[in-house]
Amino acid sequence: MQNETKKRLVAAALSARTRAVAPYSGFQVGAALLTVSGEIISGANVESASYGLTCCAERIALFKALTEGKTRFTAIAVVARAPRGPMPCGACRQLLAEYAPGAEVFVADSAKPGRIRNFTVAALLPEAFRSVPRKGKGK
Ligand code: THU
Repeated sequence: MQNETKKRLVAAALSARTRAVAPYSGFQVGAALLTVSGEIISGANVESASYGLTCCAERIALFKALTEGKTRFTAIAVVARAPRGPMPCGACRQLLAEYAPGAEVFVADSAKPGRIRNFTVAALLPEAFRSVPRKGKGK
């Protein structure tokens, strides 16, 4: 992927991060997905007083994209104030493995957004669970 595109995606994640709703943890995360047609859909984490209802930035971006009819992705950028960049949690990795299996994952510290670490969804969740057999197909 071109460096310019990567930077544009990280910039979108940084911008989304400013809209994080994280009054409980104070940990603001921004994410931006790049579709195969070059569109960017971003999201930020949203927390609840009932802590377990919190939703990560990656999932907000993914759910937004999917429900806007965007289903194929080439990359996702995730940013937060974390020295080595925020690594997606296990739940987000599972969803990315299902809906963005070929995506590159860029993570960056929001304080040093020029330093981008590169991963792939496949590397972040090897041997991902994919689907249950459908009724009538096998036992
Ligand atoms: N969070 C994300 O948005 N993405 C991650 O990959 C890890 C964690 C959020 C959830 C919660 O609002 C806050 O960060 C602290 O866990």
